[in-house]
Amino acid sequence: MKSKIHFYIGKGGVGKSTISSLYSVYLSDNHKVNLASLDSAHNLSDIFNISFSDRPKDISSNLKVTEVNIENKIKEYLGEIENDLAISNTNLAAFNLLDELNIIKQSPGLEEYGLLKSFSDIIENHAEADHLIFDMPPTALSMKFFSLPSRSLLWIEKLIDLRNRIKEKKEIVSTIKIGKSEIEQDKILKKLLELKKQFQTFNNLLKSEKVEINLVVNQDSLSINEGRKIINELEIIGFKVDKIIINKFDETQQKVSAFEIFDQVKIPISKEKLIGYENLKTFAISIF
Ligand SMILES: Nc1ncnc2c1ncn2[C@@H]1O[C@H](COP(=O)(O)OP(=O)(O)OP(=O)(O)O)[C@@H](O)[C@H]1O
Ligand SMILES: [Mg+2]
Repeated sequence: MKSKIHFYIGKGGVGKSTISSLYSVYLSDNHKVNLASLDSAHNLSDIFNISFSDRPKDISSNLKVTEVNIENKIKEYLGEIENDLAISNTNLAAFNLLDELNIIKQSPGLEEYGLLKSFSDIIENHAEADHLIFDMPPTALSMKFFSLPSRSLLWIEKLIDLRNRIKEKKEIVSTIKIGKSEIEQDKILKKLLELKKQFQTFNNLLKSEKVEINLVVNQDSLSINEGRKIINELEIIGFKVDKIIINKFDETQQKVSAFEIFDQVKIPISKEKLIGYENLKTFAISIF
């Protein structure tokens, strides 16, 4: 995949959607760009004054915009689980299957899984783009998104270990019982190994050079403190922030002294309303 991936994260209201839109419009002058909102409280339709959906819409010859539907992704995923359950439990009564599915529907982590799935679909479907730009959801969910692959890998490793031990026991029992030398392939182990590979691929991609994480802050202590926490939390799970975007920058205000070691981009306050492609373009050209 040749695309570069840019994430915009930060406290609510700092300007994530505006900056990701401005940067997308700017880059699309010379590059193929796909801008996607992974925040289910989408802002892009309001910013461009065009109604978007989970089907990418062309804004110009080089710019496509998508507002993903996380709920639909979760439904798709639950549908896949239902199928898997039906295939691997052909001997189970239908109501047992429903019980299992109802528990899965309540399981923690579904929302970030929906996000990761939406992200991976965009990557797959827009491999021709030079830049994939992601307007991210509120901080807590964004952090869960970045940590999901490594958290899942921890669980999967343990489950593989457990499954291998179960398999060993089953093999001993079946050899004693029927003296069978060849044991049929363990479907559950196969599925776990597939999942392991899938999450490893996500983890490697998210931590690769292709990815740029942009933290947007304003010059107020709340957004700066949240920014600090984001940097720390990301560091713990092995990610680094690449750039700090100080948005609505006003040089007469106090200096932002927290992020000196990072590359910084200062975006001034726009005098014009940042609504509509033409306004975005005029402002983008003046700042980048
Ligand atoms: N540089 C700027 N100059 C003037 N207004 C700005 C600038 N950046 C953002 N704004 C305005 O600030 C408001 C919040 O911006 P935006 O919606 O992009 O933030 P957000 O971080 O995406 O918010 P949310 O967390 O709610 O998704 C909007 O009204 C936007 O037009
Ligand atoms: Mg937003």
